[in-house]
Amino acid sequence: MQYVAIAIDGPAASGKSSVARRVAEHFGFLFVNSGAMYRSFTWWVLENQIDPANSAAVLELLGRSHFECALKDRSSVIRIDGRDVADALMHSEEVNGAVSSISAIPEVRRALVAEQQRFRSMGDLVMEGRDIGTVVIPDTPYKFYLDASAEVRERRRKAQGIDDDIRLRDLKDSSRDVAPLRTAEDAMRIDTSYLTLPQVADRVIQILHVEGVRRREPERPTMSWVYWLTYTLSKAFFRAAYGMEVHHAERAKVVGGAYFASNHASFLDPPLVGTALEEPIYYLARNTLFKPPLFTWLLPRLNTVPVDRDNAELSSLRISMQLVKEGKKMVVFPEGTRTPDGSLQPAQRGVGMLVAKTGVPVIPVRIFGSYEAYPRNRKLPRMDGKIHVVFGHPIYFSTEELATKGKTGQQAISTRVMDAIASLSLPDTSS
Ligand code: CDP
Ligand code: CDP
Repeated sequence: MQYVAIAIDGPAASGKSSVARRVAEHFGFLFVNSGAMYRSFTWWVLENQIDPANSAAVLELLGRSHFECALKDRSSVIRIDGRDVADALMHSEEVNGAVSSISAIPEVRRALVAEQQRFRSMGDLVMEGRDIGTVVIPDTPYKFYLDASAEVRERRRKAQGIDDDIRLRDLKDSSRDVAPLRTAEDAMRIDTSYLTLPQVADRVIQILHVEGVRRREPERPTMSWVYWLTYTLSKAFFRAAYGMEVHHAERAKVVGGAYFASNHASFLDPPLVGTALEEPIYYLARNTLFKPPLFTWLLPRLNTVPVDRDNAELSSLRISMQLVKEGKKMVVFPEGTRTPDGSLQPAQRGVGMLVAKTGVPVIPVRIFGSYEAYPRNRKLPRMDGKIHVVFGHPIYFSTEELATKGKTGQQAISTRVMDAIASLSLPDTSS
């Protein structure tokens, strides 16, 4: 398949990374930060106490280092000899001072450009750097060159609290022999000096829309016949018995792994969320539910993962994290248990933990009418009443939110999710 590739180049602090990330999120594309690769390798050179000016020694290190470039949460990551390079290390003063010398070495560029080009076969992407439009993906029709005056860029760096002589770095990057920083002839140049970040991103997104770039519809995983049959029968039942209506299903179309977080009032909730969607999703269920022979057979075929309430809770959590990391979707209930009286309960920390550890988006879901249909205190459901399933906008958590450590951070994520569920109201169906 021919994937779309968008190139964003420009000097330091022109806004490349921030804009590229927003554009990638808008279109649901992958985000590749090529500067991070040069920075990581530079950190590795310094870590090995090699003089960046000694290109023979740098090349010797390059030859015996093992690079692994991969995707994490749809963004590029690089590991060198099995080590992750933390953001802070990559942006240290020492790396800022040495990276332009290291990235001027042709062999280093050749090795890293090959890695960057490998991402093209992984999906639609936005890649940012210095030579993306000129060298890495010169054949793409979608090229941008972001610029801003040196004063503005220096001010931005200062505001970030980063010690970085960007004028010197720009001079080195633009005057090197191999792949110097320059505007590709066919690139759209945007001066960002007097524009805010959202303004720049909107402009880029608008141009791409005009050029025909579209968000790719996520590929739907197929249902097994057992899942399909159960899904179809349940959906027909919910429609016949409760006139089930789904609202804002378009908000549920998220690319890649995600959690659907719903309020919990009844045993009907997991299949209600499942049948409100067009694709197969995963569920967690108490392991005791797996005891009857029919269920032992059926539940795994309905993508249900057993949870042992008393022990080994960890392994099922691990599985649910693994599943979303593989790009699958799962239903979770932040309240933990079914409501005793129909009202929403406070969120428990579990969902926050899953989200903090996986970084995937959460789509809030609010179910109306399932408590009335099948409350906790009834043996069998009532066969009347009306059920609505309302989807909210996906929540993409910021790196800061995800990085807040420990129980407080996890609880904050859970609470944000529960608030989003609570804010969903029944659409006005009278009009
Ligand atoms: O974010 P900032 O603009 O400060 O820099 P970066 O994109 O992280 O890149 C750091 C350094 O890596 C640049 O100054 C260049 O020397 C080098 N680089 C490059 O040579 N080619 C690229 N495609 C990306 C970065
Ligand atoms: O990747 P690059 O070095 O080109 O820039 P960045 O890291 O995306 O942006 C550097 C800083 O400038 C960030 O703090 C951005 O929020 C800020 N910025 C801005 O204030 N206005 C813009 N139009 C673009 C970036």
